[in-house]
Amino acid sequence: MTKEMLDKEYQERFKKHYDELKWLYMEVYDNMEMFQELCDQMYKFYAERKAYLKDLDHAREANPEWFKQNDMVGMMMYVDNFADNLQGVKSKLDYLKDCQVNYLHLMPLLETPKGRSDGGYAVANFRKVQPELGTMDDLEEVTAACHERNMSVCMDFVMNHTSEDHEWAMRAKAGEEEYRDYYFFFDNYDIPAQYERTVPQVFPTTAPGNFTYYPEIGQYVMTSFYPYQWDLNYRNPRVFNEMMYNYLFFANAGIDVIRIDAVPYIWKELGTDCRNLPKVHTIVRMMRMIGEIVCPSVLLLGEVVMEPSKVAPYFGTVEKPECHMLYNVTTMATMWNTLATRDTRLLKKQMDILAGLPKDYVFLNYIRCHDDIGWGLDYPTLRMWGMEERPHKQYINDFFLGAVEGSYSRGELYNADPVTGDARFCGTAASMCGVEKALDEKDEEQLQHAINRVLTLHAFMFTESGIPLLYSGDEVGQLNDYTYKDDVNKVEDSRYIHRGKFDWSVLEELKKEGSAAERIFNGQFSRYSLIKPDPDKLSYLIRRKLRVTVKNNLYTF
Ligand code: GLC
Repeated sequence: MTKEMLDKEYQERFKKHYDELKWLYMEVYDNMEMFQELCDQMYKFYAERKAYLKDLDHAREANPEWFKQNDMVGMMMYVDNFADNLQGVKSKLDYLKDCQVNYLHLMPLLETPKGRSDGGYAVANFRKVQPELGTMDDLEEVTAACHERNMSVCMDFVMNHTSEDHEWAMRAKAGEEEYRDYYFFFDNYDIPAQYERTVPQVFPTTAPGNFTYYPEIGQYVMTSFYPYQWDLNYRNPRVFNEMMYNYLFFANAGIDVIRIDAVPYIWKELGTDCRNLPKVHTIVRMMRMIGEIVCPSVLLLGEVVMEPSKVAPYFGTVEKPECHMLYNVTTMATMWNTLATRDTRLLKKQMDILAGLPKDYVFLNYIRCHDDIGWGLDYPTLRMWGMEERPHKQYINDFFLGAVEGSYSRGELYNADPVTGDARFCGTAASMCGVEKALDEKDEEQLQHAINRVLTLHAFMFTESGIPLLYSGDEVGQLNDYTYKDDVNKVEDSRYIHRGKFDWSVLEELKKEGSAAERIFNGQFSRYSLIKPDPDKLSYLIRRKLRVTVKNNLYTF
């Protein structure tokens, strides 16, 4: 296409969204100058976009349902855990093909301070890759290599906060007025105290409270997550604009899916719980339009780890869509609940609810991820069935701790809140399913049951509507990693138990027929299986067959 044709195409997209975008921007910011700047920058990012990405834009615009085709299998991973660095990931793409993976989520890889990183979710520079992992050029090489293999790449966009080491935060701390407006500063505890009355805590044990006092400046800063993660002030149009430029920067680096991290938290209002407020949706809607104008092949994946009624609104409406994809968090937690209680009723109810949702909704289904499992279950229903929230949570946690008679699981509590009695849970899928215990006890019968559980959960995930997302290591039954306890920067955060390094010697195990890893990788249900084993190997390779089976309502497994 010639430059004129491309420009025409851009103008058409721009025209399509201009009125609504301007309307929403002015509603939130009432600042025409900043809106104009945003529009100018959007065109600049479009003009700089590589030809091959523009081709992808055209192809996906012509086939907007491209990610709803039932042929996507995802895997999420920490770059360093998987292959040390980005070049390492590039060299392992064949392994991912063997896993049938064609959607790769690379966990946070941008510059972050050592020891104050929250696993990379405290970004100190949105334009720079962590030096140990490589450079921006390496990232672009990886995305291009993935695209050559028809693999899409997802990356985290941590938009709620920056690291206290980000240049904006440092300049704010140094007293530069302009940068102080990027965050929330308070001279005393009066207003923070008012917020604390209505805002729950994200990390009640590891990082209590929503504010951090900085003695060197004698002020409080809003920090909903860890104290070193400063909440950005989206009331400031400069913050919105700059973050949009960061988002477009990654779109232009070849990222296909932008995971908008902790998005429900981005708008704060005194007297509320500061979650899912209407302005959050306005901002996401603006992001969607900005993407559709500049880089329509790029998808927004919302990280909305909330109760179901709060999740679906992030899809927006047919006329005014917001996110393209969301996580199916309730099903994930309910699945584990089923394992612990051996009661399928709640899962059945959850499946019925999902089946009633518009077919256009695309969920990312998963069993485990890098975070803890919060027991966000349907308690009103459980209560009807005689189960109260607190003892129920206590039971599930005890079960997965291995503290209940008959339990096979191993793992650890996360952020056990002494006040509410609440606690979340950490562990790998294999350890929670009993593989670790069985291997330790060298008990073959237990091991077969444990493998069956791992496979059952995965097989179930593959039948769910949406995109299945594996957590790297689960495909070979990676076990809990307790070495985080020796690291002073990690010891307080039990999520590191399931963030161990991928052990490549497992490839040798995969060659040994009958090893635990081989049985899991190849989907070998055993004779102890409670569900009817497929005559073929029930591996990821036959997921298409499973899908067809589900579509035809021959729900056989
Ligand atoms: C998201 C991430 C989590 C992180 C938090 C703060 O929930 O998944 O790991 O701690 O955001 O950025």
